[in-house]
Amino acid sequence: MNKKIAVIGAGHVGATTAMYLAEANFADIVLVDIVEGVPQGKALDLTEAGPVRGYNAKVVGSNKFSDIKGADIVIMTAGLPRKPGMSREDLLTKNAEIVASVGKNIKKYAPKSFVIMVSNPLDLMTYHMQKITGFPHNRVFGQAGVLDSTRLRSFVAMELNVAMTDVQAMVLGGHGDTMVPLPRYTTVAGVPIGELIPKDRIKAISKRTAGGGGEIVKLLKTGSAFYAPAAASTDMCRSVFNDEKKVLPASAYLTGQYGIKDIYIGVPVILGAKGVEKIIELKLTKSEKTALQNSANTYKKHLKVLGY
Ligand code: NAI
Ligand code: 2OP
Repeated sequence: MNKKIAVIGAGHVGATTAMYLAEANFADIVLVDIVEGVPQGKALDLTEAGPVRGYNAKVVGSNKFSDIKGADIVIMTAGLPRKPGMSREDLLTKNAEIVASVGKNIKKYAPKSFVIMVSNPLDLMTYHMQKITGFPHNRVFGQAGVLDSTRLRSFVAMELNVAMTDVQAMVLGGHGDTMVPLPRYTTVAGVPIGELIPKDRIKAISKRTAGGGGEIVKLLKTGSAFYAPAAASTDMCRSVFNDEKKVLPASAYLTGQYGIKDIYIGVPVILGAKGVEKIIELKLTKSEKTALQNSANTYKKHLKVLGY
């Protein structure tokens, strides 16, 4: 039997994720949304692209959560996106309601699935989804760090005019204003960027990374980024399905790592067939540690708003 991925939300991120997944050709896809016709129409359109693009993945659209039955992975993209001037945390209450209703359906119809969260505010919604489903923490994790670090990678590549794929980068912390880009752990073909880029430019690139989502919201005016976020979720899916054990930054549940517990936040993890198989603890400087702690403290406050 083919592997199955359910993508919840057929909006910008959901539909683009379905497209990248279809092109990756490693699973059948069901796209679910509450708006009648939209998931069906987008799924049909993606199916019709298959012969030209060279994939055979089945893509179906639905308004029924029962159609996610048997999904190996559920990617949760349903929720409101930001508009200019909004922070991700402004979406908290409304998206928490959506996560609660979708989470109950995931628990009912795909109780053995891995859940990759995308809906914002990401780290808080990931915490909420785990509580709603009651799934083990290794099976519920959030996509943000792959996006934030691919932004950092691309900015470094643009700065040095080198291949994007030669740049590796790490970003920790929450997916928001408190994120912690780590230039010390950012390299070009193994060479630390501190040896290649002047300090003031590294500072500017880190700042641009932390504001990367907002930069796109400002340009688009009606919503937020979707190509890079969808690419990031597809990469995480692949690592789980193929048991690749990629080391990626993801929103994972901490139980004391980095001196932080009972919170989901961005940290490097090993992602394989068991989901989050290990959280990697990097050696941080005092200021990096403080920045990560600040990020966690901010989210602890927001979790209280959700009653946790
Ligand atoms: P969008 O507005 O294009 O799509 C959202 C879709 O969710 C809509 O089609 C809507 O009908 C659907 N939806 C709403 N309630 C639903 C429910 N109960 N069940 C099923 N579908 C439902 O928004 P977009 O741009 O796709 O963004 C989606 C979410 O992803 C937002 O919260 C956004 O902030 C977040 N996001 C997170 C990123 C990350 O890196 N973690 C990156 C980009 C976006
Ligand atoms: C982003 O960073 C909106 O969270 C989304 O683009």
